[in-house]
Amino acid sequence: MESLLQLIRKRCSVRAYSDKPVEQEKVDALLEAFRLAPSAVNRQPWRVFVVQSEEARVGLQAAYDREWFRSAPLYFVLCGNHAESWKRADGKDHCDVDIAIAADHLILEATELGLGSCWVCNFNVEACRKLLKLENSEWEPCVVIPVGYPSDAEVWSKTEKKRKNLAEIVNYI
Ligand SMILES: Cc1cc2nc3c(=O)[nH]c(=O)nc-3n(C[C@H](O)[C@H](O)[C@H](O)COP(=O)(O)O)c2cc1C
Repeated sequence: MESLLQLIRKRCSVRAYSDKPVEQEKVDALLEAFRLAPSAVNRQPWRVFVVQSEEARVGLQAAYDREWFRSAPLYFVLCGNHAESWKRADGKDHCDVDIAIAADHLILEATELGLGSCWVCNFNVEACRKLLKLENSEWEPCVVIPVGYPSDAEVWSKTEKKRKNLAEIVNYI
C-alpha cells in the first residue's frame, strides 16, 4: 500500500482515458472519500452529480468542449451551496474552500484505485447549471472531475511535476 505522500506524488492530471468502465464499488469509494471531507463549521455545503448516462455525458461535454475530455467514461460535478456555507466575520465565503477539499479527497482516492482524474474549472457554468437543472438556485457547479482508467498506464511516472522549490514558498518565522 502506498503512503499518502507517495499517492500525492503519483497523482497527476490525466487527460486521456481508456473506454474501460469504472466499477461501481470504485465509484462508491470515491463518493465516500468525498462525503468524509472536512468543511468549515461542518456545514457540508455540497452535492455531487455522477454523470454517466450517454445523454448526460454528451451534455456535459458541450459545457467543456475538449477532445480529451470526451474520452472519460464518467464525470463528477461538485456543486456548492453559498446559502449553506460558512462565512467568516469579515464576510469571506468558505464554500470554495470546502468544495476544493472534497474534490481533493475524491481525486486522491481515485489515484489510489488506479483511476485517472483531472480538475476542470474552465467549463461553461451556465450550460452545466442547465444540464443539472440548477438554474435559479443557490447551487453552483464548482468543479468537474472526469474519472477513468488512463489510456496510458505509465502516465503516473511519465508526467513531470512542475512545482516551485520549497525555498520559494516556505517562510519559517
Ligand atoms: C482549481 C483548478 C482548476 C483547474 N482547471 C482545469 C481545467 O479547466 N482544465 C484542465 O485541463 N486542467 C485544469 N486544472 C489542472 C491543472 O492545470 C493542473 O493541476 C496543474 O497544471 C498541475 O498539473 P498536475 O495536476 O499534473 O500536477 C485545474 C486545476 C485546479 C487545481
